[in-house]
Amino acid sequence: MIPVFFTSSTGNSETAAKKIAKELGDAQIFDLAKVGVDAIKNHDKLIIGTSTWGEGELQDDFEELWDKFADIDFSGKTVALFGLGDQDGYSYNYCDAMGLIYNQVVQNGGTVVGSYFDGDYEFEESVAYKNGRFVGLPLDEDNQSDLTDSRIKSWCGEIKESF
Ligand SMILES: Cc1cc2nc3c(=O)[nH]c(=O)nc-3n(C[C@H](O)[C@H](O)[C@H](O)COP(=O)(O)O)c2cc1C
Repeated sequence: MIPVFFTSSTGNSETAAKKIAKELGDAQIFDLAKVGVDAIKNHDKLIIGTSTWGEGELQDDFEELWDKFADIDFSGKTVALFGLGDQDGYSYNYCDAMGLIYNQVVQNGGTVVGSYFDGDYEFEESVAYKNGRFVGLPLDEDNQSDLTDSRIKSWCGEIKESF
């Protein structure tokens, strides 16, 4: 079973988590605000997704969990990330939170799989964009909800192999 951990303010990341779990098959979703970050410690292969708020900031629940999250030893863990954001309204901070999480996981010894890019994104800057690809799967329910299902399908195909 692959756990799909998420936090979400308006439900978009939760819906995405459900779709990802369905696409993967043997997966289960967990709201980190309810189960707490310690739940992450029990798994070697996991998925984490959340949205970006403010201007390039963590979603509120994630923000509250951040200190404990930043203490997790990720060595030996393989992590795939997804992020929700608005590339038109927040073009200079698109899905930054996914990048902040990536940086912390890598700093704490984790392996991140599932980088993603397709030619349909229109944004200026993102902490989650490194060397021509995003560090995980960025989704945009505000502007490109029509692309969400195909993006999830393609990304899940890739991470299934990495897992
Ligand atoms: C006040 C506000 C600030 C936001 N800031 C950002 C941002 O900095 N970067 C970004 O990519 N999206 C930003 N968004 C867009 C949300 O991340 C997006 O709507 C997302 O789908 C919400 O997901 P959730 O319902 O799981 O929280 C912002 C939205 C609002 C309303």
